[in-house]
Amino acid sequence: MVAERVQGLALAGLDKLPPQFIRPLNERPENSKALTGLHVPTVSFSPDCKQAAKGSEEWGIFQLTDHGISPELFRRLKEAGEGFFSLPQEYKEQYANDFAGGVFEGYGTKLAKNPDQKLEWIDYFFHFMWPTSRVNYDKWPKSPLNYREVTEEYGEEMKRVAEGVLEALSVGLGLEAGALKEALGGEEMSLEMKINLYPPCPQPELALGVEAHTDMSALTILLPNQVPGLQVIKDGSWVSVDYVPDALVVHVGDQIEVLSNGRYKSVLHRSLVSKDETRMSWAVFFVPPPDKIIGPLPHLLNETNPPLFSTKTFKDFQHRKINKLSQ
Ligand code: OGA
Ligand code: NI
Repeated sequence: MVAERVQGLALAGLDKLPPQFIRPLNERPENSKALTGLHVPTVSFSPDCKQAAKGSEEWGIFQLTDHGISPELFRRLKEAGEGFFSLPQEYKEQYANDFAGGVFEGYGTKLAKNPDQKLEWIDYFFHFMWPTSRVNYDKWPKSPLNYREVTEEYGEEMKRVAEGVLEALSVGLGLEAGALKEALGGEEMSLEMKINLYPPCPQPELALGVEAHTDMSALTILLPNQVPGLQVIKDGSWVSVDYVPDALVVHVGDQIEVLSNGRYKSVLHRSLVSKDETRMSWAVFFVPPPDKIIGPLPHLLNETNPPLFSTKTFKDFQHRKINKLSQ
């Protein structure tokens, strides 16, 4: 059965949100207004590592500027992703993923797995980016023609930026600069690309683009388009993440929270949708290899700092999180 795509629903020009997308009362954006006046910290990608560590401790998220990625590359990456989603539906369906069949890469729409069986107002494209041993280029869009070239170039830049962030976070923990990268598998650390497409939504106040979650990754580096929507929890309230042109939004994910024994917070976040505009975002997830064993780093533990998280392979962590088992 071919899943119904959100993009198709949006094109149909509905004036009411179909019931399967209407969130329970406590999740609706209209009932959980974001705080105003608070802003996610901005961190310059200079050797000023203290700001990245501080942002990761206090918020678990920051806006990264001065990262050295050219606006021209951002523009080409965005054009390539927009180009794919504007292709005819039959073309995109050739890339359809199949979770039940174990095919996670490709074009998808989230099928309900939450207790309410509610759907998210989003279509996406997901594929591995690195290391080359995990990449299958047949799974990458072949159209637009420059998709692969642009995405590979962006992947190289993402590795460089992530390495700098991981160094800053390692130093912030009082460890050697290479400690976190090493703990995440060094050159075997994987990069995954997820292009998120949130089409215009007839009743955005009743819907969510992605429901509240923390990322399973070590780090996520997100490039949003100009349509705001991302929100994060700060001290129990939602705060909207501003659109800062050419900044990258760096999220601390679950694996860094575990390695740092809770010093750095895996940020709880969600995204809202817009009535008239299409939000898009390019999320690059940095994840350890499946068999990598992840637990609080021994150097951070002592009698007054006992481990707050259990130690297990990344694969086991993923399995437990996806199936909502205790960690
Ligand atoms: C995600 C995510 C938020 C956004 O893909 O994990 O949280 O703003 N995306 O698109
Ligand atoms: Ni996320």
